[in-house]
Amino acid sequence: MTRPASRAVGIDLGTSNSVVAVIDKDGAPRILTTPEGATTMPSLVWFSPDGPVVGELARGGLDYSPDLTIFGAKRLLGRRFDHPEIRRLARVLPFELTEAPNGDTWIQLSAGRSVSPEEVCALILREIRRMAEAHFGEPVTKAVITIPAWYDAAQRQATKDAAQIAGLTVMRLLSEPTAASLGHGAHRGADRRYLVCDLGGGTFDVAAVDVEAGIFEVLATTGDAFLGGDDVDRVVVDHLVRDVRSARGFDITSDTIAVERLRLAAQTTKHELSDVSVSKVYVPELVQLPSGKSLEYDKPLHREELEQWSMPLIRRIEAPIKEALKRCGRKREQIEEVLLVGGMTRMPAVRKEIARVTGREPHVIPNPEEVVAVGAALEVARLEGTIEGVLLIDVAARGLAVSMGGDCEQVIAQSSVVPTREHRVFATKQDDQLRIEFDVWEGESPDPTHNRHLGRYAVLDLPPAPAGDVLVLVEMTIDTDGTVRLGASELVSGERLQLDQIFHAGLARADVQRLQRQLAEAP
Ligand SMILES: Nc1ncnc2c1ncn2[C@@H]1O[C@H](COP(=O)(O)OP(=O)(O)OP(=O)(O)O)[C@@H](O)[C@H]1O
Ligand SMILES: [Mg+2]
Repeated sequence: MTRPASRAVGIDLGTSNSVVAVIDKDGAPRILTTPEGATTMPSLVWFSPDGPVVGELARGGLDYSPDLTIFGAKRLLGRRFDHPEIRRLARVLPFELTEAPNGDTWIQLSAGRSVSPEEVCALILREIRRMAEAHFGEPVTKAVITIPAWYDAAQRQATKDAAQIAGLTVMRLLSEPTAASLGHGAHRGADRRYLVCDLGGGTFDVAAVDVEAGIFEVLATTGDAFLGGDDVDRVVVDHLVRDVRSARGFDITSDTIAVERLRLAAQTTKHELSDVSVSKVYVPELVQLPSGKSLEYDKPLHREELEQWSMPLIRRIEAPIKEALKRCGRKREQIEEVLLVGGMTRMPAVRKEIARVTGREPHVIPNPEEVVAVGAALEVARLEGTIEGVLLIDVAARGLAVSMGGDCEQVIAQSSVVPTREHRVFATKQDDQLRIEFDVWEGESPDPTHNRHLGRYAVLDLPPAPAGDVLVLVEMTIDTDGTVRLGASELVSGERLQLDQIFHAGLARADVQRLQRQLAEAP
């Protein structure tokens, strides 16, 4: 077998933690470690005065300058600024969000300096790439990157752009639940009907995945894009801030550093309360007192309290699970194994809720934070041809629709097996009409305001002819990894027509290339 010219890795780009895995020569998966020796790297970037600091070292920034230390960039990736959840996040995040000219969400670092979530994710991916290059002692230029199954086309493109800026070619974007079932070794085990439940730092993903004779078929995917451990931490912090006010007489609501310290301490306590029933939240220096001394905060916390506070969030687990079963036409009794993925599924109340909703004791694996990256590494091996007998069949998380000023017309149905291609024919409405404009949407509703606007396109240079005589065939493709491609041709002659993007979500191609060059030159 010839050796690939450069190396490829599997990457789980997480909201809280990113993980990189490879398949060793003997076929065993290996999680690569950070310079600190950890298997997960915090998805954190601190824009320090000396340049960006990534991963574990960036934790210093949370304490020192929370307004310049970006966490959870994955939740912002490919999101419009006017999205209600982004509006809500903007109110609670310690750093400032801003609207890019095309309506995307960016991060304002200081007056006149903003960065896109793509650039933040690119810095994380570059760090991962360096880890992998240190492991191999060779360049790493390709990757399979995992994404939430419900990511829309703009979010998928944004992930690919982040990878390109980091100098990585995406071999395939793989949905996290599919990766989890693959990483769990489902291809080696018994054929099963799985329900994968992944509750991580920022998002909740559900997928019904059937595995039969090495064929992985994703039947339905749902999720909650704004439900994760970060939200639990936030709820706990709200209670603690109130406690600081009532018990200590300090209002720290607008003290971002104190709130961040509380958030980090609360997160540690949350982890402990998964194993023990009582622990405490401890912050050695919460705020400076007028005397120059600092206020120590030390509060016992019971598991029941944590559960009670998080219950409104934990209840939100139910709807996506029910929706996933409905979409694949299954009763919960027909599920054969419930697979728990993501760090938040270590919380007993989360496990209990999933067991209640699915009516089945879930399968607990020892490495819920790593299994997605292992699946990505196996997919790399599959694409490189070093493992055989595995086939992945995925579905489109959302449908695709077009409109010409009015209602949206569905072109590709939700849950269609990908890749898939459909077309629509548009006729000119006026004599000698030179161009046809149309909009592309992701979603199921005839009402455009309920769908995600992916872009406005124009078919140019139509031949002069009476109204209705020129017929334009627009082809829409959803690729295996859920990215959307468009093409236009004249129906009768079959000749290709020029298709222009007038508006589109995400970064422009030229900007991606410029940022890639910049990052390649940066230390
Ligand atoms: N022992 C534990 N008990 C409770 N929660 C935990 C525990 N360990 C980790 N977590 C939480 O799990 C979350 C991180 O999980 P994970 O690393 O799977 O997320 P991620 O992959 O980065 O996020 P996402 O998949 O949403 O993009 C954090 O909120 C963290 O606090
Ligand atoms: Mg995850």
